[in-house]
Formats: sequence, C-alpha cells, structure tokens
Amino acid sequence: MSNKMWGGRFARGPGAIMEEINASIGFDFRLALQDIAGSKAHAAMLAETLILERADAQAISNGLDEIAREIEAGSFKFSRALEDIHMNIEARLTELIGPTAGRLHTARSRNDQVALDFRLWIRDTIDALDQQLRALQRALAEKALKHAASVMPGFTHLQPAQPVTFGHHLLAYVEMFARDRARFASARSRLNESPLGAAALAGTSFPIDRAMTAKALGFDRPTANSLDSVADRDFVLETLSVAAICAIHLSRLAEEIVLWATPQFGFASLSDAFSTGSSIMPQKRNPDAAELIRAKAGRIIGALNALLIVMKGLPLAYSKDLQEDKEGTFDALHALSLCLAAMTGMVGDLAPDLKRMKAAAGFGYATATDLADWLVRTLNLPFREAHHISGRLVAIAAEQKKGLEKLSLAEMRAVEPRISEAVFAVLGVENSVGSRTSFGGTAPKCVRAQARLWLRRLKK
Ligand code: ARG
Repeated sequence: MSNKMWGGRFARGPGAIMEEINASIGFDFRLALQDIAGSKAHAAMLAETLILERADAQAISNGLDEIAREIEAGSFKFSRALEDIHMNIEARLTELIGPTAGRLHTARSRNDQVALDFRLWIRDTIDALDQQLRALQRALAEKALKHAASVMPGFTHLQPAQPVTFGHHLLAYVEMFARDRARFASARSRLNESPLGAAALAGTSFPIDRAMTAKALGFDRPTANSLDSVADRDFVLETLSVAAICAIHLSRLAEEIVLWATPQFGFASLSDAFSTGSSIMPQKRNPDAAELIRAKAGRIIGALNALLIVMKGLPLAYSKDLQEDKEGTFDALHALSLCLAAMTGMVGDLAPDLKRMKAAAGFGYATATDLADWLVRTLNLPFREAHHISGRLVAIAAEQKKGLEKLSLAEMRAVEPRISEAVFAVLGVENSVGSRTSFGGTAPKCVRAQARLWLRRLKK
C-alpha cells in the first residue's frame, strides 16, 4: 500500500529497510506535546485568517486535545509505518475527526513543523535545566557559607600551592554554573523565533499570519527567512555547546570529588546514598556517581560533535540529514539533567574532613608565598629577592624534613638577618588565608560575603 500521507505519487509503500532507516517515531515521540501545541496555534491562525472554516478549526483543536490526553495517559499507539510524530498525530486526528483533519496541514510542511517542535522542546528543556543549575548553585553556596573559614590546600599543577578555604573552592563552581546559566539564557533568547509558516522552504501563497502563531507560542517574533527557518539548527548546536561546557564543569567537580574521597587525600567522604560497594573488596566505598558524571561529559560532547558533523556541508534548505539532530540531543540533555540532579545531591551530602584538610593545607610549604610577601612588606625587599630568600628557607626546611614554621629564628636569620619573631604569624595556614582579602580572594570574610551575595541572588 502506498503511504497515506505522501503516497499520491507512489504505487507501493517503502520496503522494510527503508521504513526502518526513515522512521523517527522511536525518538521524536518526545515532541508530541510540542507538536500538538504548534498545530493548535496553526489551526487557530488558519481560522482567524479565514483560510479554514471556524467549525473545522474547532474540530481539529478538540481532536488534538483528545490526542494530548491519550498521549499523557499512555494509551496513544505510535506506529513506525507512520514514520514520525507529525504523521502519527495527523493519522490519529483523521481517525478521530475524519477528512477535516487533512485541512490542518494547509500552509504548512513537516519541515517548518519539525523546526518549530524542536525549538519548543529545546526552549522547555533549557528552562528546566536552568532550574536545576540554580538548585546546584544553591547547594554549593550553602555549603560554601558554612565552610567560609575551613582551610584546605589550594593546588596548581595538583601540587600544594597556597592555602585556600573550602568555601572559596566551592564558590568557584558557583561562578562556573552562573556562566552556564547565562549562556543557556543567551541561546534561549536567540532561538525564540517561530519558524512556523516557512512551510517547505519558500513560504506559502496562503494569507497566513505568522506573527499570530509566533505570539501564541510564546515566541518574540517569526523568523525572517523561510529557507533559514527550515534549514537552521543553530539553536540545537548552541544548546549542546552550552551543555558541553556545563558538563565539563560538572566533570571537573566530579573529578575533584573522586580525588577528595580517596583515602590518600581523605578530604571528604560521600554519603552512602552516593557511594557503592565492591562485590569482592569489602572495604570499598566507590564514588560511582561522580565517576559517571565525569564520563557523561563524553557523550554530551559527542552529541555536539555529531551534530556539527551532520550540519557541515548541508546545502539549503531541508535535507533528511536534519532528522539526525534529535536522538543525540535528547540523550545528551537528559544526561545533563541527570548529572545536575546527582551532583546537587552529592554536594549536599559531601562531608569534608576539616582536620585532614587543614593539616594538608600546611604540607608542601604552602605558606612560602606568605613568607615572601612578609619580607616585602616588613623589610621593603623587592618581591624577586624575597622570593629567593623564601625559596632558600624552604630548601633548608625540606632538607631537614620539617615545615617552614619549624625553622628556628636563628636558622632564618642565617639567610636574612633582619627577619624577626613576627614572621611566624604568617607561616600558619589560617593567617595565610585570612590575609588574602583582595577582591575575589580566599579570606574567610570575602568568602562569607560572596556566599551571602549568591544566596541572596539565588533566592530571587
Ligand atoms: N521526521 C522529520 C525530521 O525529523 C520531519 C521532517 C520531514 N520532512 C521531510 N521533508 N521529509 O526531520
């Protein structure tokens, strides 16, 4: 049998393999509610512009409402023979209201229809991800406020660098996720134009009102070029790019949690809720959730790459290649959502070992910069010279396998005779962090102020 929807020119239906490669219903069923919203707006506009009888538009709209109920109830039967979500819904509409259903597709094509549906879906998804990001920021900022003064080692090259506070470290991620939210918002503002009415590629000869459907669907305006409207997937690429950057932030935090939770670091432990055991090694508490977040960045970046490659070299306007925009996107944004939820839970439960962190903050001569700064401030030495003196003192202490603060005043004076007892105050890790009061610095009072600022912003 030839296809009901486009079969006029065809004597026979597609072969089995053709049907399998062609069908998208296995994944684009996710666009069902967006498809119905778009069709309802289209039908209302067709009635308003007198392209469609009002009674027909009403019958179509009622039928679509019924289909929405069936889909939500799970009783809607999706059929692969009907190829995609658009045809599945139209076929069901025909069953429900008869041939009038065929009038819905006036002045429209599946090309603008799918572009519309996917924009609506991406827009909804961005809004949901934004809420999740905000919840994660709040979990981080709350923990940061609590630990504004908890000292831990700060690293560069994963070598002890200077002491910082745990709160400061957590707030670094709050900043990253703030940028992700801003990027999502920016992508959303650009995608918020309606492609509906571009029809197949060239627009339509019917006197449609594209501004009306745009407004009804919450868009700022209709898209201005019909070819671009059906060929463009920038809104997907942008969203996946933002998702990929966000996934990298999550992955970096996940990696830190994996490190912190090792007995070697011992900086923090995960709750039972976010740990798993080993079937053979009874002592194990594995940070599986963090590891999976780290790994899922791979598939999210993969989805972005895949679509970039699909788009590359596609001539205008629509080609079926564009159907390949969906599966990876659904998968990637679902993965991101899951990662955000898991990370929020993990951050909330994360229990730092403050003693251990503080002790570690003193390892590796992390206050050598404080010593150099003291020499500059107190003895008015040029920083380079102070750096050299501090370095020599570190070498002497290291030779004796002891901390800087364990050197005697005499040992210090052998290197720089003007050093006084007062130097010992800056060699402690608490003094070190307390002194870093420059804007954006790690001093507890700065961290407290930033955490409070974030919590206030996040409440709004
Ligand atoms: N399932 C198709 C897609 O996702 C819908 C558009 C089909 N258009 C066409 N001319 N075959 O891209």
